[in-house]
Amino acid sequence: MTSPLLCVVGARPNFMKMAAILPALQQPPTPLPVRLVHTGQHYDAAMKEAFFQQLGIPEPDDDLGVGSGSHAVQTATIMQRFEPIIDRWQPRAVLVVGDVNSTLACALVASKKGVPVIHVEAGLRSFDRSMPEEINRILTDQIADWLFTTERTAHEHLQREGIPPERIHFVGNVMIDTLRRMLPQVPQAAAVIRKWPGGDRIPISPSPGRKGAYGVVTLHRPSNVDHPENLEQLLICLREVSQQLPLIFPLHPRTAQQMQTAGLLKQQHHQHILTTPPLGYMDMLSLLSQAHLVLTDSGGIQEETTALGVPCLTLRDNTERPVTVTQGTNTLVGTQPAHILAAVAKIMSEGGKRGRLPELWDGQAAGRIATILKKHFGP
Ligand code: UD1
Repeated sequence: MTSPLLCVVGARPNFMKMAAILPALQQPPTPLPVRLVHTGQHYDAAMKEAFFQQLGIPEPDDDLGVGSGSHAVQTATIMQRFEPIIDRWQPRAVLVVGDVNSTLACALVASKKGVPVIHVEAGLRSFDRSMPEEINRILTDQIADWLFTTERTAHEHLQREGIPPERIHFVGNVMIDTLRRMLPQVPQAAAVIRKWPGGDRIPISPSPGRKGAYGVVTLHRPSNVDHPENLEQLLICLREVSQQLPLIFPLHPRTAQQMQTAGLLKQQHHQHILTTPPLGYMDMLSLLSQAHLVLTDSGGIQEETTALGVPCLTLRDNTERPVTVTQGTNTLVGTQPAHILAAVAKIMSEGGKRGRLPELWDGQAAGRIATILKKHFGP
C-alpha cells in the first residue's frame, strides 16, 4: 500500500485534537492515506474509550499498550514500541499533537529515522521547565519539520528558538473545531450531575441572569496534586468556595490516587462538592458550557472555557496559552487560597471576564492543516 501519514495519540487531551484532524486529512476529493497509532499512555475506559466512541475516532491501527510509568520508562517504552511501527508502515510523515510524553517520544523516533515530523499545537511556552510538558514542547518543536500554531505568541517563541519561519503555520485551534462540532449535542448539565450518586444533593437550578449555579473543578498537575500539603490546602479552599457555589469535581486518576494515599478522599465527601470519576467528552463539555465558573490547572480547559465564554480561574502561576488571558475568559490566580477566594468572590459579585474568541478559533483549523499538508504530502 502507499505509504501513509502516521497520526499519533497517547493521552486524553490528544483525542479531541485528533478527532478534528483525521476527517480533514481524509476528506475527499483528495484524501491522504492515514494510519492511527495509540501509544496507550492513557488506557482506562474513562480516559480513552469514552472519547474514541463519542468523538467518532476510529479504532487505532496499532495500540502500543505502554501504560503508566516514570517519565523515563514511559517515554522509552513508547520509543521502543513505536520504532517497529515506523518500519512496518514506512510513513511519509508522522503527525503528533500537544505536549504529552507520547508526543515527544514518537517525534524523536520519527526524526531519527529521517521521517518528517508534523507538530500540531506548536510553540506554546509556559517558561516553566519544571513542567514535564514544557520539556516535551521545546524538544518536539526543535525536531519538527511542520509546526502548526494556535496563537500568534507561538511564532515569537519559535523564531527565538531558531525555527525557520517557513516551517511555521498559524492555523487556529483544532480542539476548538471539535468543541464547536459537538456543542449542539451536549446533554443538560443537570442530567449529567444527577447521574452520579450524591448528585441530587447539589442544588443546580440556574439562578436568574446566570448560567448554571455550580462550578467545575479539575486538578491533575503534579505541582498541585503530588504534594499532600499543597493538595490539602487546595481542597480546604475548594470547600470554602463550595459554601457559595456547589462544585462538581471529576477526579483524574492521578489526583484520586494522591487523595487516597494522603487520606483526603473521605474528607472530600462534602455536602457541596460532588466528586466523580473522569467524565467522557460530552458530559464534561456539558458541565463546562453551563457552569458559572471553572477552576482548573488543565491547559485544554483554559482554551475550552475561552471558546465557551465561561469564566476560568487557572490555579497555576503561569500559562502556555496567554491568549486565553489577554483575549479570553481566563485569569491566572495561582494556588494561594486567599487569591483564589478573592477571584471567586469577584466573579460571584460582578460576573467574570466576558472575553472574545481568539483569532482563527473558528472551527476550521483542521481544514487549514489538511490543505497545507495535502499540497506537500498529497499524491
Ligand atoms: C498526562 C500528560 C499531561 C496531560 C494529562 C491529561 C504527560 C507528561 N502528561 O498526565 O500533560 O495534561 O495527561 O490527562 O504526558 N492513570 C490511570 N489510567 C489511565 C492513565 C493514567 O489510572 O488511563 C494513572 C496512572 O496511575 C498514572 C497516572 O494516572 O501513573 C498519571 O498518568 P500519566 O499518563 O503518567 O500522566 P497524567 O498525569 O495523566
